[in-house]
Amino acid sequence: MIDTFQSDADALFASVVALRRTLHRHPELSGEEHETARRVAERLRELGVGAVQTGVNGTGVVATLEGERPGPTVLLRADMDALPIQEETGLEFASEVDGVMHACGHDVHTASLLGTAAILARHRDQLHGRVRFCFQPHEERLPGGAQGMIESGVLAGVDAVFGQHIKPDLPAGTLGVRAGAAMASSDEVYVTVTGEGGHAAEPHELAADATYVGSQIVGALQSVISRHCPPDVPSILTIGRLIADGATNVIPETARLEGTFRAMDEAWRGRGHDLIRRVAIRTAEAHGATADVEIHTGYPALYNHKDEAHLVADAAREYVGPDRALDVDRWFAGEDFAYFLQERPGAFCQLGVGSAHGLHTAGLNVDEEALRASTGFMAYVAWRYGREHAA
Ligand code: NI
Repeated sequence: MIDTFQSDADALFASVVALRRTLHRHPELSGEEHETARRVAERLRELGVGAVQTGVNGTGVVATLEGERPGPTVLLRADMDALPIQEETGLEFASEVDGVMHACGHDVHTASLLGTAAILARHRDQLHGRVRFCFQPHEERLPGGAQGMIESGVLAGVDAVFGQHIKPDLPAGTLGVRAGAAMASSDEVYVTVTGEGGHAAEPHELAADATYVGSQIVGALQSVISRHCPPDVPSILTIGRLIADGATNVIPETARLEGTFRAMDEAWRGRGHDLIRRVAIRTAEAHGATADVEIHTGYPALYNHKDEAHLVADAAREYVGPDRALDVDRWFAGEDFAYFLQERPGAFCQLGVGSAHGLHTAGLNVDEEALRASTGFMAYVAWRYGREHAA
């Protein structure tokens, strides 16, 4: 089927690129993907891909293609939302919405999955089982759209789940997948230190200097990973914001720390939360201040299941060739497809798009050749899973 899918992808390429550009021109923020969802549903209806369900968890769209041969159900997922970024690519099809941009490639994911649906719809006589196309809203902002899609029942009867994300630093049209921990959990850490405000010349009169204590906490938190995290568990704790808004001659009453804690192991992640709290609170106490710690839990670590990751890797070698099927590193971005992978076996792969500018930047410029690979490749993955797991 590889040759068939490749020639289908070639034939569809121009229309997939056109659709991607349309989506790119009209980006919508998380939870507001109304026009995008309308376009997706319209296209799925044109393709005759089963009953098209709209309004799933807000603006989600789901449709299931029935193959003519018995087999399992595979879910393929694309996310649809854009980011609050002012585009600076200067592209002819740049965003027409002020301050909103598809800077994470979700336009590529959505257009690609519609291309995949078009390819598979042509070959339902060859398809073992069925393929559910899942267009998910609200990936970019907590709490994410994935859990709501799952609660809405998109995984009912599903045997395996697959998805992809563009990767700017990889050459266009390359594919990579990593078995096991592949992407990080991503939690936000907020610490408010309360001391006593007063004259900068009289610190000895005050119970605690929040600026000093806050900076001590930044230092002390470095021990959480260096002294407690198992050496084989990748993890990051960064304090990116430290606000103590006094003046040259004013000690402020409070200081505020904000940061991110990322991990690739759920057990360590829970321990990390406890340690962050303890270190911040006790460090503050040691200096006569108090610390209030809030951890906003983000997406969990993303684990690719071994068999499905191997299927994707093998499919990539066959589909794009061994030179373009890459061994990829762990990726410290967060991704709510992780929730799908907590519920079902599956894998999430990386699609190279060869952009000099990274994700979530105003300059992200995708090499659209990637779409030629991704559309047919995901069709091949779904088809092949069906064939290998046919009853
Ligand atoms: Ni993304």
